[in-house]
Amino acid sequence: MSDRRRIVFLTGAGVSAESGIKTFRDANGLWEGHDIYEVASPKGFESNPELVLDFYNQRRRQLKEVQPNEGHIQIAKLEEKFDVDVITQNVDDLHERAGSTNVLHLHGELRKVRSTKDESIVLEEYDDVNLGDLCPKGSQLRPHIVWFGEEVPMMDMAMDITLKADIFVVVGTSLEVYPAASLLHFVPKESPVFIIDPNRHTKLEQGRINVISKGGSEGMKELMERLSI
Ligand code: OAD
Repeated sequence: MSDRRRIVFLTGAGVSAESGIKTFRDANGLWEGHDIYEVASPKGFESNPELVLDFYNQRRRQLKEVQPNEGHIQIAKLEEKFDVDVITQNVDDLHERAGSTNVLHLHGELRKVRSTKDESIVLEEYDDVNLGDLCPKGSQLRPHIVWFGEEVPMMDMAMDITLKADIFVVVGTSLEVYPAASLLHFVPKESPVFIIDPNRHTKLEQGRINVISKGGSEGMKELMERLSI
């Protein structure tokens, strides 16, 4: 058993913003110009699969043009001194590319696709997915993304990880999407919580919640200072 302290991160679109990936809900965000349910729900996929496939094909292509930023890198570097778990709502692979080794994707992964009939059939590192691209069992492939209205299969694992946090750090998520946002309630009472987000200044988070109103990179630097790392 390791006696190192365990830092658990819950990250969202904001941690990848400095890499050039749009967040969802900020002005000019990804959902602007898209009806969420058109591109991120099973009903949307049923009624216009081409639109949905194209939306994720564009996201997947963009992934090849972006790099992890200092925020991702700082999180990965903490593994030198701590046990680090990253629970991310992001479907990009920038935490892994920065070197994080324990990354749990709550909302799926862009670089994976799966069968529409048998969700245990998951293919890795897929490029564009088009209508007519079939899984080995002959059914249409779809993005390996958790859409609105679908179960979040990794949630139990995420809760278990959160329950073991000595320090819990939220980076770049509006905490508007459940059940992900509910993880905050599973942080042990004695463990400090930090929220790094340039747009969060409210006094709503009081007590043990420390708000660092900065972007991912600068916020991570301040976190290190506050933890004396
Ligand atoms: P949001 O777009 O809801 O929130 C992004 C957060 O990042 C906001 O609070 C911003 O203030 C903050 N932010 C912006 N720039 C930042 C920066 N440079 N550094 C740090 N933070 C910054 O994105 P999520 O909370 O990730 O789900 O959204 C949650 C889920 O909603 C996503 O996983 C996605 C979406 O629907 C699915 O696709 C299933």
